[in-house]
Amino acid sequence: MRFATLTRQPDDPLLRIIGQHGADPRPDKIDLGVGVFRDEAGHTPVMTAVKAAEARLLAEQSSKSYLGPEGDIGFVRALAGLVIGDTVAAERIVGLQTPGGTGALRLAAEVLARAGVAKIWIGSPSWANHAPLFRQAGVEPALIPCFDLNSQTFDLNGFLAGLTGAAAGDAVLLHGCCHNPIGIDPDAAGWAAIAQDVAARDLLPVVDLAYQGLGDGFDVDAEGARTILAAVPEALLAYSCDKNFGLYRERTGALFALSPDRDTGAVVFSNLLALARANWSMPPDHGAAIVRIILEDEGLTAEWRDELETMRQRLESLRATLAAGGRIGAIDLGAVAHGKGMFATLPLSPSQVEWLCDRHGIYMAGSGRINIAGFNTTAIGRFHDALRDMAANGVA
Ligand code: LMR
Repeated sequence: MRFATLTRQPDDPLLRIIGQHGADPRPDKIDLGVGVFRDEAGHTPVMTAVKAAEARLLAEQSSKSYLGPEGDIGFVRALAGLVIGDTVAAERIVGLQTPGGTGALRLAAEVLARAGVAKIWIGSPSWANHAPLFRQAGVEPALIPCFDLNSQTFDLNGFLAGLTGAAAGDAVLLHGCCHNPIGIDPDAAGWAAIAQDVAARDLLPVVDLAYQGLGDGFDVDAEGARTILAAVPEALLAYSCDKNFGLYRERTGALFALSPDRDTGAVVFSNLLALARANWSMPPDHGAAIVRIILEDEGLTAEWRDELETMRQRLESLRATLAAGGRIGAIDLGAVAHGKGMFATLPLSPSQVEWLCDRHGIYMAGSGRINIAGFNTTAIGRFHDALRDMAANGVA
């Protein structure tokens, strides 16, 4: 009997919020938990370009036979063109489809472990799943605290100082844009400094690009990743289509590897295929086929880009309305205006987070991370009021 040796694991705290919010009968509850885009009515819609591509897929797909561990290569190529473009010679890039961005990160972690990389440096806080995911694959995370929640700023010098502890050959994780959970990215000069430092220290960058198009715009959001790729001989880029194509549960992502030359790339690719085969054999097809159909069709691409831009503008305007609350008690909401994308993390204690939930039905991650897309215009007013109530009651 082996199962008796297992110990019970806690539920994932972020995913638990979905259930807790669903079970809360209060009509004015606010869900700022898991990172999904929502419209003004609180709905996470299927994008119209996705619906159109799905209809085409349904009508035209003639086989569901296996594609292989690399998945839909048309999808991978189209995405590489869009994200990486001609930043580096195409022969230096290999890529394959993965089950979501998390699948891409898992594969990245496993290929790093296979290549003898023992440690990955991560600016902290980071997405709650980054550290466990790398640790589970045998690459130990080393955290560098580098964000100030009160001023909502990224401490570039602190991050670079943290990297002085890295050994040549270690990996470093970089959020491509719309940092999760803080929402603060390096500026162009910051990216250039990081790229130079990473290259000089012979570190292997792993760029996690999961929110392209939801920050400053589709192309601008890829510039950090491109700056890194252009500066180093080797890198990994994990890509998620969850948010920018709204494909969440279809688990649609890709992993790209940059190598010094074509021959090394071929060896890396063979390892990625072998690892994918041992993990999930082949990735699910539906989401990737949808993305391919959109990206191969000019009209659908334009429709999707327009819709994505509308989503981006909604996030921008919600963020501005949230920031207009200014200073409430100890919290300077005005600083949230520095951020981009879906997330901000407020300087709230776990007991304040709990109090906001119990008293006002406001659900957020225990870290104080909020999904800005979870607001609508009236909910932001109620959120400001709740923070005032919390300050008035001296909840610490
Ligand atoms: C989030 O951070 O809320 C999303 O990326 C969903 C997830 O899997 O955690």
